[in-house]
Amino acid sequence: MALHSMHTHTCGELRAADAGKEVRLTGWVDHRRDLGQLIFVTIRDREGMTQVIFDPDLSGEAFATAETIRPEWPILVTGTVRHRIEGQTNEHMATGEIEVLATGITVLNTSVTPPFPIDDATDTAEDIRLRYRYLDLRRPVMNRNLRLRSDFAFALREAFHANAFTEVETPSLFKSTPEGARDFLVPSRTQPGHFYALPQSPQLLKQLLMIGGVERYYQVAKCFRDEDLRADRQPEFTQVDVEMSFVEQDDVMATIEDVLHDAFAKVGVDMPTPLRRISYWDAMDTYGIDKPDTRFGMTLHDVTSIFAGSAFRLFAAAAETEGQYVKCINAKGAGSWPRARIDKLGEVAADLGAKGLAWFAFKEDGSWNSSFKKFVSEVEIEALRAEMDAEPGDLLLFAVADRLQADEILGGMRLHMADALEIPREGHDFLWVVDFPLFHWDEERGAFAAEHQPFTQPMEDDIEKLASGDRDTILSCGSHTYDFVMDGFEAGGGGMRIHNADLQMQILELLGFTKERAEAQFGFLMEALTFGAPPMGGFALGLDRVCMLLTGSDSIREVMAFPKTSSGSDLMSAAPSKVTEAQLEELSLALRHE
Ligand code: AMO
Repeated sequence: MALHSMHTHTCGELRAADAGKEVRLTGWVDHRRDLGQLIFVTIRDREGMTQVIFDPDLSGEAFATAETIRPEWPILVTGTVRHRIEGQTNEHMATGEIEVLATGITVLNTSVTPPFPIDDATDTAEDIRLRYRYLDLRRPVMNRNLRLRSDFAFALREAFHANAFTEVETPSLFKSTPEGARDFLVPSRTQPGHFYALPQSPQLLKQLLMIGGVERYYQVAKCFRDEDLRADRQPEFTQVDVEMSFVEQDDVMATIEDVLHDAFAKVGVDMPTPLRRISYWDAMDTYGIDKPDTRFGMTLHDVTSIFAGSAFRLFAAAAETEGQYVKCINAKGAGSWPRARIDKLGEVAADLGAKGLAWFAFKEDGSWNSSFKKFVSEVEIEALRAEMDAEPGDLLLFAVADRLQADEILGGMRLHMADALEIPREGHDFLWVVDFPLFHWDEERGAFAAEHQPFTQPMEDDIEKLASGDRDTILSCGSHTYDFVMDGFEAGGGGMRIHNADLQMQILELLGFTKERAEAQFGFLMEALTFGAPPMGGFALGLDRVCMLLTGSDSIREVMAFPKTSSGSDLMSAAPSKVTEAQLEELSLALRHE
C-alpha cells in the first residue's frame, strides 16, 4: 500500500542499492555542519536520519537556503542518492552507506531554538520534557515507545478478534465503579447538584454486557482513579478489559494466556504457556509480595523453630506465640558490607513497618557478627547456616511479626537488597498469582475490605462461612481471582464474578454498605443480576504497565503521549486550571476556597 506523502522515501530507508535514485525527503533538521565549501545537513523523521550534502556548484540557490536553516526546522529536500566515499561510511546509522546530494530545498517552517536537544541521550529534567512534550515526542526513543505500544495494542485486538471477542465501548460519564480509589466527579449542568463519576474501570458495565448476552467482550478502555501517583500509576490510564460468560475460571485464564502469548509474540517476546501459577499465600510466604519477581531467588525462610527456647528473647517469644514468626532472607554478598552500611538497613526495614532489623553476617574470613551476637548459640548458627544455605560473605536479615507483616517486611527488604546488590534481572518473567483472600481487614475503617473488588466470586466451599459472624473465619474465605504478574509488577488482574443478587448483597453488607446505600449505588446491578445473569469472569491488563516493561522504561509516563506529573498536572496545558464564574454558575457550583 502506497503511503501518500510529500516524500518519496523516509529518512531511514535509503541504502547502497538506492544509489543513483532521485529522491524527496521530508523531516526536521537534526544538525547542520557548515564546512564553507559544502554544507552537511542531517535530516530526521520518525524512521531515522539521512545525511544531505549541499554543494554550491550543484545548486547555488539550495546552498544559499541551506546556509540559513537551523535545527528543528521542517524541510523538504530533493536530490540524488550516492555512495559515501571510502572511509566516510557510518555504521552506526542505518543509512550510513549513502548520502543525498541536494538539488533543491524547501523550508516548510522555521523553529525557535528548542529547550533541549532532540536526541536519545538527553538527560533533560522531566518537567521540561513534559512542558514541551511535543518536542520530547520527536525524540527517537519516544517515537519507538509509542509505536511499540501501538503494535502491542493492535496485536491484542487481533488476538481478541480471532478469539470471537466483540469490542464494545462503554461510557466515561457514568456512576461510581469502586476499584479502591477515589472517583473523579463530573458535575451535571442539566441536573444541578448531581454528578457523574468517571469509571475507575468498566467493571460493572462489562458485567451488564454479559447479562446482555455479549458473551465475549473486550475494550481498550480509559480508566480514571484519583489516587496517590507513583512511577507505575497515573490518574488516567488504559486497561485492555475483558469479560466472558458461560465459563469457568480455567477457561478465562486459558483464553487470556492464548491472547497474551500471541500478542507478545508479535512484538518479539516469548511468553511460554501455560503460565506458572503461584497461590497468593505461597507468593507471600516465599517472596513476601503478591507480585513476585522470580528472576532472582533470595526467598523467605521460616526459621521460627530454630529459635524455640533461644536466649534471644525476641525470637524465642515469637516461637512460643501462636501466629508469630521469625523469617529470614539471605542477601548473598552483603555480609562483607561495613557495619555502618548494615546498620542503615534498619531504616529501610522501619519504613516497611518493622520495629527493628536483626541481622547475622558471615564474614569472608570465616568469622561472624550479628545484631544479637550476645544471645546466639552455636547450635542456632549451624541451623541457620544449613537452612539458609549460608556461606562466607552472606548477610541474613530477619523479621519477627505475624505472618503477613513478616512476609511484607522481608519482601520489601528482598527488593531493596536486590537493587543494592545489583542482582541482574534479565529477560521477562510471567506468572499468575491466584487464590487471593476474599477480604482483608481495613484497620483504619475497622471493617472488611475487598481484596480485589466487591463483585468477586467467593470460593464455593467458603460461602457458608460468610454468615459466621466471626472475623477470622470470614477473613479465611478464598476467592476466584488471579493477577498477571510481569517482571515483579501487577500487570493485570481479574476474577470470576458473583452472578447471584442475594450473595452480592451479602458481600456488600460485609463491606459495610447499608441496604439503602447498596441500592442507591448498585441497585441497577442487583436488579440486572435477578434477570438470569450467567456465570462470568474476566480480566483487565494494565496496558501502560506492560508497555513500560516491554520498552525497559522505568515509568509508565515513558509510554504515554501526554502523562501527568505526580501531583496530577499536565505541565504543557497547565491542567487542571481555574474556570470562570460563569462556568461555575452554569453548573450550579460555588467554590468554598479560592
Ligand atoms: P485492577 O484494579 O487490578 O482490576 O486493574 C487492572 C490493571 O490495571 C492497571 N492499573 C493501573 N495502571 C496505571 N495506573 C493506575 N492508576 C492503575 N491502576 C490499575 C494494573 C492492574 O493490574 N475491574 C478489574 C479487572 C477485573 O477484575 O476484570 C480492575 O480494574 O496493571
